[in-house]
Amino acid sequence: MKPETKVTTLGRDPEANFGVVNPPVYHASTILFPTLDAIEAATKTKYKNQMRYGRYGTPTTFALQDAIAELEGGYATFAVGSGAAAIVATLMAYTKSGDHVLCADTVYAPTRRYLDVVLKRYGVETTYFDPMIGAGISALIRPNTTLCMMEAPGSLTFEMMDVPAVVAACKAKGVATALDNTWGTPIYFRPLDLGVDVSVMAGTKYVGGHSDIMMGLITVRDETVYKTMRASVDELGACTGPDDQYLALRGLRTLAVRMPRHYETGLVLAKWLKEQPEVSSVLHPALPDFPGHALWKRDFKGASGLFSFVLKPVPRAALAAMVDDLELYGMGFSWGGFESLMVPSDVRSLRTAKPWTDPGQLMRVHAGLEAPDDLIADLEKGFQRLRKVAREKA
Ligand SMILES: Cc1ncc(COP(=O)(O)O)c(C=O)c1O
Repeated sequence: MKPETKVTTLGRDPEANFGVVNPPVYHASTILFPTLDAIEAATKTKYKNQMRYGRYGTPTTFALQDAIAELEGGYATFAVGSGAAAIVATLMAYTKSGDHVLCADTVYAPTRRYLDVVLKRYGVETTYFDPMIGAGISALIRPNTTLCMMEAPGSLTFEMMDVPAVVAACKAKGVATALDNTWGTPIYFRPLDLGVDVSVMAGTKYVGGHSDIMMGLITVRDETVYKTMRASVDELGACTGPDDQYLALRGLRTLAVRMPRHYETGLVLAKWLKEQPEVSSVLHPALPDFPGHALWKRDFKGASGLFSFVLKPVPRAALAAMVDDLELYGMGFSWGGFESLMVPSDVRSLRTAKPWTDPGQLMRVHAGLEAPDDLIADLEKGFQRLRKVAREKA
C-alpha cells in the first residue's frame, strides 16, 4: 500500500467498535483483571499491546502506535508525552555512567542540552560531529561509544547527513543509531529502511498537524531494540493522554495530503526569498545549490515546509518592522501545523563541531497550508517595511 492509503486505513478497526470509523478514546488508568491467574500473568510477561495499566497504553494508544510503526516500517512504536520526551527516552535507553555518545552538531537544541547537562551529570560523555562527516564518523567511535544520535536535516540550519554511511560505520563497531525524523516524517523519509535502530518524531508537528497537541513517537527496528526501548519508556513514565492520541490519529489521516502542500509552498517561498537582495542565503535541502542537496535527493522523497533564510545584517528596528506586522506568519515556537510561522533564531551557541559564523540574522520559516500567493504578498510587504526602516536608520 502507498502511504496515502496507509494513513487512511491504519489503526482502524470498525468491526471491533460497533462500526464506528475511528478508534474510540479510552480514558483509563486502572485496568481490572478478572482472576488471580490473569493479574499474575500480566505482571510476569510484557508484550506488545498488552492491557495492563493506563500508562502502558489502551486500545487508543495501540491504534496510534501500530499505525506509526507500519508507516515507519518498524517493529513497534511508543507514544510518549512530547518529542523531547521521546528523545530523552532514547538517550536514556542507550547510556549508563561511563558511556560515550556521538551526536550530530545540528540536533534540536534540547537534545544537546540533555546531553550536556543531564547525561554529563551522570557521567556520560558526548562528542558532537559535523553532520556531513559521513563514513569519517568511524574515527570518532571509542570502545565505550554506545549511541550515535542523528537528525536529518539538522535543526535551524538544515544540513543533510549521509545516513547510510554513518549507520554502516556505527554498525561495524556495534554502536546503536537513532535519528530525529520530525522534519521528513515517514511520508518522505524512513530511517529504519536505511538501517537506523530508532526513529524518533515529535508528533506535535506534522502528525498532529493542527498545533494543538504534544506528542512524541519512538519507532524501533526490531524486537531487540523494542526490549531496550520499552525498559526506558516504561520506567520514565512518559505516557500520553488519550485525547492527544486520538487527535494524533486524526491528524495522521491527512498527513499524506498535507505534506506535499507544505513541500510545494515551502519551495515557492524559498525561491522567492533567494531573489531578495537583503537575503544572504536560503537553507533548504531541496534547493539544487544547497550543500547536501544530493543526499536529500538520494534518500528523501520530498521536503517538509520548514526551512531558514539568513538576512544580511540589518538594524533590529528594520527586522521588527518586517516581522511585527506580518499578517499570515505567526511568531512562535514549534511548527508542522496548518499555519505559517517565522521565528528569529540564534544558532551561534548551538554549534561546536562546526561553528556557525554568519553575522546575519537567521529566520526559520514554516510554510503552512495558506495560498502561496497570499504568503508571498505578505512577505513582499514585510520586506518593503524592512527596506524603509533600514534606509531611515542608515
Ligand atoms: C526537530 C525537533 N525534534 C523534536 C522536537 C521536540 O518536540 P516537542 O516540542 O513535542 O517536545 C522539536 C520541537 O520543536 C523539533 O523541532
